[in-house]
Amino acid sequence: MKQDKLYAKNQQVVDFAFDEAVADVFPDMIRRSVPGYDAIISQLGVLAKHHAQAQTNIYDLGCSLGAATLSMHRQTSNLKLKHICIDSSESMIKRCQSHLQRHIPNNELQVICENMEDTVIENASIVVINFTLQFLEPKARLKLLKNVYKGLLPDGVLILSEKLLFEDAVENQLQIDWHITSKRSNGYSDMEISQKRAALENVLIPDSLEQHKQRLKEAGFMQSYQWFQSFNFASLIALK
Ligand SMILES: C[S@@+](CC[C@H](N)C(=O)[O-])C[C@H]1O[C@@H](n2cnc3c(N)ncnc32)[C@H](O)[C@@H]1O
Repeated sequence: MKQDKLYAKNQQVVDFAFDEAVADVFPDMIRRSVPGYDAIISQLGVLAKHHAQAQTNIYDLGCSLGAATLSMHRQTSNLKLKHICIDSSESMIKRCQSHLQRHIPNNELQVICENMEDTVIENASIVVINFTLQFLEPKARLKLLKNVYKGLLPDGVLILSEKLLFEDAVENQLQIDWHITSKRSNGYSDMEISQKRAALENVLIPDSLEQHKQRLKEAGFMQSYQWFQSFNFASLIALK
């Protein structure tokens, strides 16, 4: 796994983008930056085993290199599912295609480079949005979730993982500080942490758990439950 050193040198920070340089080091970057990432990926397989319905579509919106899809496929390969992986970054999607085609039969896999706002969702028993809604303009988020709700089958589920804000200011600061300490303990320097934070500032806009639950309800999901949290990173499951 290539080590992420993108912010190791002092630089004029520009807005973060999922470009070639990021795609090249992405597995190392996400594991060292998102507390609980590996646990979420592995449990997505378990949740897929529980909720996948045979001969349906499983969507992975903002799939990056396809880690979530691979984990779900490993636990459901007997169900004749179609895995549809969507990402708007060419650099991510070409790596995703070449990686996943080694593990998932051709007729069960579709890897598409497009904006997930344009994705047609149909015959879906599971839609995963793992750390990607936070990159969409806040005012576009409800429309996307409504589209997901519409495309899910009865008993279908949306699994939504996000970085969280906390409404209590003291808790919010503590959660941010714990995250920074976790990055330090994963080998990032203070300069790397602060340059990455500046690069993400206008790009990753987190919501609170309460905002997510309210928006999910507005989109049609009457029940949503938090099933995972590690510091300020959490995952919810919403039921149709
Ligand atoms: C943090 S990564 C997601 C990680 C990935 N889901 C995983 O589990 O490894 C965010 C991804 O979302 C993609 N992305 C951001 N905005 C998008 C959009 N509007 N439509 C599709 N993909 C998008 C980025 O290119 C990037 O690959």
